[in-house]
Amino acid sequence: MQLNEVRQAFIDFFTSKGHTPVPSSSLVPHNDPTLLFTNAGMNQFKDTFLGLEKRDYTRAVTSQKCVRAGGKHNDLDNVGYTARHHTFFEMLGNFSFGDYFKKDAIIFAWEFLTSEQWLALPKDRLYVTVYHTDDEAFDIWHKEVGLSTDRIIRIGDNKGGAYQSDNFWAMGDTGPCGPCTEVFYDHGEHIWGGLPGTPEEDGDRFVEIWNNVFMQFNRQNDGTMERLPAPSVDTGMGLERISAIMQGVHSNYETDTFVHLMNHAKDIINLPQDTNVQDEPSLKVLADHIRSVAFLIADGVRPSNEGRGYVLRRIIRRAVRHGNKLGATDNFLYQIVPALVEQMGGAYPQLVEQQAEIQAVIQKEEEQFAKTLAQGLRLLSGELNKLENGSTLDGKTVFKLYDTYGFPVDLTADIARERKIDIDEDGFEKEMEIQRERAREAGKFGIDYTNLIKVETPSKFVGYEQLHADGQILQLFADGKAVDTLIEGDEGVVVLDRTPFYAESGGQVGEIGQMTTATGVFVVEDTQKSGAGIIHYGRVAMGKIDTNQNALSEVRGDVRLDSAKNHSATHLLHASLQQVLGNGVAQKGSLVSSQLLRFDFSYDKPISDEELIQIETIVNEKIAQNDTVLIEYMNINDAKTKGAMALFGEKYGDVVRVLTMGKNADQSAFSIELCGGIHIKQTGDIGLFKIVSESGISSGVRRIEALTGIGALRYIQAGEKVLNTLTQEFKAKREEVLERVLVLTEKVKDSDKHIEKLTQKLASFEAKSLMDKIVDIAGVPVLIAKVDNMDAKSLRSLADDLKSKLHNGVVVLASVSDGKIALTTSVGKELTAKVKAGDIIKNLCQSLDGKGGGKPDFAQGGANDVANLDKVLTNLQDDLFNALS
Ligand code: ALA
Repeated sequence: MQLNEVRQAFIDFFTSKGHTPVPSSSLVPHNDPTLLFTNAGMNQFKDTFLGLEKRDYTRAVTSQKCVRAGGKHNDLDNVGYTARHHTFFEMLGNFSFGDYFKKDAIIFAWEFLTSEQWLALPKDRLYVTVYHTDDEAFDIWHKEVGLSTDRIIRIGDNKGGAYQSDNFWAMGDTGPCGPCTEVFYDHGEHIWGGLPGTPEEDGDRFVEIWNNVFMQFNRQNDGTMERLPAPSVDTGMGLERISAIMQGVHSNYETDTFVHLMNHAKDIINLPQDTNVQDEPSLKVLADHIRSVAFLIADGVRPSNEGRGYVLRRIIRRAVRHGNKLGATDNFLYQIVPALVEQMGGAYPQLVEQQAEIQAVIQKEEEQFAKTLAQGLRLLSGELNKLENGSTLDGKTVFKLYDTYGFPVDLTADIARERKIDIDEDGFEKEMEIQRERAREAGKFGIDYTNLIKVETPSKFVGYEQLHADGQILQLFADGKAVDTLIEGDEGVVVLDRTPFYAESGGQVGEIGQMTTATGVFVVEDTQKSGAGIIHYGRVAMGKIDTNQNALSEVRGDVRLDSAKNHSATHLLHASLQQVLGNGVAQKGSLVSSQLLRFDFSYDKPISDEELIQIETIVNEKIAQNDTVLIEYMNINDAKTKGAMALFGEKYGDVVRVLTMGKNADQSAFSIELCGGIHIKQTGDIGLFKIVSESGISSGVRRIEALTGIGALRYIQAGEKVLNTLTQEFKAKREEVLERVLVLTEKVKDSDKHIEKLTQKLASFEAKSLMDKIVDIAGVPVLIAKVDNMDAKSLRSLADDLKSKLHNGVVVLASVSDGKIALTTSVGKELTAKVKAGDIIKNLCQSLDGKGGGKPDFAQGGANDVANLDKVLTNLQDDLFNALS
């Protein structure tokens, strides 16, 4: 059975058991800052397990894209050297949301694995584990399935704490969790390893293939286990592992998809045809990494120096290095993409749609890496050369390589290791922390308090139509902990049952305003989502506030209006960009505040001035048309049919909010987007739209920043003011000013050239007149002279000039300007045995209250005692006479 067939069989089996097939969610977790990448099938159902989100099905089946690189689950360094480690893999899973529980889950699993109609695995190869106290699961396996008791292994808390066990699965430190039962496959005696719970369990003989989790609890911050609204099921089976078993091989890298990818990579790199791909760990690395890289890019991640983008960059760079190890000299990685699309494009059409973009991003990163690598290596080998074997490279250098040269830390460590040098990881972390601290200080709310607190009850947002609303205070938090009261001056978080404050979402920042209770006033400085709750961050400005009090919430209307203008303008901008630059423009991010709007989108070259004007004009035309902004709620499929632009990989509910804005010449809608944000009523409310900047923020991603309304007007007025001042200064008309500036710039350039020539001439005149002052001391031409008003630099060039004229002689020049003496000495090379320029300067400086020094043939200094200069220079002549004769 091929990998694609195994995936399909799983989906078909569970569909036949009443499960709804649900597409894989994006690798970038939606609205879950606790997670770097999606790493389990249940991620997209977290809120459904918690009872915070309702779906119109209670059974689901998925094949979920997962990445385990960076963050807690990091398999990156192992990939290529083991049979089953991957950065990217697919997790097959069936889910029950308060529907069936242990019995059905176990019976389904057994049927799928062993039935002749499905995988038909031999039963005597299978073993299972259960949580030590889970008699129910034990009995189901034994009595219902008929598994002998020696094949059912109880596993206790083997990970050092209560509920810390291989058989108790938790998504994270908090959140849904429960006991689990795992199915193991015996690869046979020829492979070393023991059953779970034995000392040899880490061997490769018994391989875990399927984890069935009985979701029962929601682990709280303080460790307590709260029961979930309804017992549920979450399962996960690695598609690559089960496919290896189905194909009768031991390593995942021997399965069809990987063999295909490795063969393709072998050809691209031009390895000999008889190369056994299984003998080349680096080919395994490439086959694995190209999958995570391509899928991450397809889900909108771009290489960068932080967060997800940094992990992507590390994976690409690790792949490139392994390619180089195999002998690749040119950019090669992007050329493996077509083979991947061939293998996986059927199941993941996004790969087909985005193939060109994926290849372009990889190729660019490969090119950039080539540059970074050379520069970074130079710095690194310089630093390593200073160190002895067995010593440690300091954290500052490691950080500099990371921060300035984009040099992944593990790459630095690898190269240092080759020279038997360690890197100071603690020192590096310290530098990182300093940088983070700087970033935190820069942003008012750098600490993500949404992670610190847990909101128990969903809040209702009632603010689309109103700025004011009554509500009840459900919870208060200070420093992340629940409290009953906040008093004047306290910073904290308020949760209400209903609120008119819009929480940051879809790029629009959280709203501000105030809340008033019978006893106090709370100023809201930011509003965020936390699960299904809406949290208001701010401080008590007067009196105190308590839980259970009623509060009148008032959103700052002027700020909301300005944000709404910017948000609606963002939609118009998006549509306008597509009209002018083509449909390839896809939104990559946005920020909408009351101050400005920022829109990031995929496009691979700078936007020309003409295009920017065109884009800006179209938006202003739509504003001037003053059409009503249409807001509708509809089924997601209807919205897609209507042509609504949705963010790829975003999670939308079944009923979506659709915004339609502006009209084309043929009266069709100009912009249709799914959006939950706050908008103006008529496009004319925006008033005016002005682009203020266009830039590239990472490879293939551009950023436009723009202003609306009065903000846009002020910006234009500020420009006007500059122009008016210029017209006055030049006494010219507006349309003439540019020409005048250009002419003037040319003139200044000419004048500068002229001045330079004159200065040179003057210096050579000066030099000539000084030639008269040369004296002969014991056959050596010596010139000691005072010149007018020269700075150290001019003095030096004059000295150089004279030196060349004097051939083997001594030149000492002094110049007084602004009450200070500049001194320069130059001595012919052959004379330096007798007199040294450095010594002359030192002596002069000693006598003249100054400082200076230099080499035997040239030295410079500065001094203060102007009054004694003549005398000291005369004495110098005598000294030189003694030295030279
Ligand atoms: N969520 C479970 C796991 O990841 C199935 O193993």
